[in-house]
Amino acid sequence: MLKSASLLALLSLVPAFVNAAQPLYAQCGGIGWSGDTSCVSGAVCTKLNDYYFQCLAGSAPSTSPPATSLPPTSVPPTPTTTGTNPTGTTTPVAGNPFTGYTIWLTPYYADEVKAAAGLISDATQKAKALKVADIPTFTWFDVVAKAPTLGTYLADASAKGKASGQKYLVQIVVYDLPDRDCAALASNGEFSIANDGLNKYYNYIDQLVAQIKKYPDVRVVAVIEPDSLANLVTNLNVAKCSGAQAAYKTGTIYALKQLNAVGVYMYLDAGHAGWLGWSANLSPAAQLYSQLYKDAGSPPFVRGLATNVANYNALTASSPDPITQGNSNYDEIHYINALAPALTSGGFPAHFIVDQGRSGVQNIRQEWGDWCNVKGAGFGARPTLNTGSSLIDAIVWIKPGGECDGTSNTSSPRYDAHCGLSDAAPNAPEAGTWFQAYFETLVKNANPAL
Ligand code: BGC
Repeated sequence: MLKSASLLALLSLVPAFVNAAQPLYAQCGGIGWSGDTSCVSGAVCTKLNDYYFQCLAGSAPSTSPPATSLPPTSVPPTPTTTGTNPTGTTTPVAGNPFTGYTIWLTPYYADEVKAAAGLISDATQKAKALKVADIPTFTWFDVVAKAPTLGTYLADASAKGKASGQKYLVQIVVYDLPDRDCAALASNGEFSIANDGLNKYYNYIDQLVAQIKKYPDVRVVAVIEPDSLANLVTNLNVAKCSGAQAAYKTGTIYALKQLNAVGVYMYLDAGHAGWLGWSANLSPAAQLYSQLYKDAGSPPFVRGLATNVANYNALTASSPDPITQGNSNYDEIHYINALAPALTSGGFPAHFIVDQGRSGVQNIRQEWGDWCNVKGAGFGARPTLNTGSSLIDAIVWIKPGGECDGTSNTSSPRYDAHCGLSDAAPNAPEAGTWFQAYFETLVKNANPAL
């Protein structure tokens, strides 16, 4: 509470006057920002978090209070859906939900990439960079203010589907739990448990659901809450994580139920091989995920787990990176093969998707736990359904490569020491914002080459 109060005071120091408009994707406000606060025509200064306001394309997203008034307590609201998905059935398709669908390309990322390519002078690298705009990534809904844009995206996917006769699939990341990123600082979210965050989270989910309901012809695949449950497996010694345990579970169960009711295929984030893949963590992880799945009523649209989100591990490493020593699950395939049977016996017959967006180069970390803007990384295997494993539905790009993991500015309140390590790229901006130099390295080091 004290922190929020002082943040508000600082926010009021952001200058209200404007001299020149900021370009698309530039910073336009936030704590400590002393530059211009207006955006060029066609872009709107949008609060991404207390520390970072960014010029985003389009008209102003609604930041006004939601139409529905929030309940006074953290008892999950009564579902407003009828319990059926838009097609009127509670039964998902059998098998891989990606099969037969064209993955919709998010214009948000494509625009970031095109703007970045425009800053590259070398013609070969520029051409390679531009190719990234055609590779599907997930779109992160990391603040409630972005929820209305989901409707815009789904409308576009629906129109493209109707025009082409193809079936479209939109990939999203649900990422706004209260007291988010409890064991790190870089991705602290907008909601705090102390400030009614769980009710605000219910409202955030409701807003996503309201958009999804309108477009029953578009299939939505969602990754649910990166890092949250994994933190409950290993980081309950951190006060913020133990304090968030109940809210994470209640919030996640609410998300699963509500998104299930509108037919969203879901994968819960499950860390990665170097986190939950250690033998001491596997069984507690399997227990937590299967219990939560059952507590949510075994929602049929919960297809399984997402691994390696925003991380750097190979799906199949040619040989173990020395930093993995002591963990026989030295890559994602070993981790998945070890975790899946334990989940199945716990009542959760999970399938997987694996992020390989930044896994092109291996053996670049000093320690396996290093996660922030790791130097020397390259774009990895392209999204595909040819995964080589019946447990794995798809290789995907979940972290939009080029968006930052966390700032290296030691004076930022969101500075996390991992972002200042010697294997973390220097001069990094706030998490989620564009990191041009890092993007250029991802392009240069892409494997397979772009
Ligand atoms: C950031 C989010 C961002 C996501 C994808 C996370 O680390 O905290 O704001 O949307 O990365 O770039």
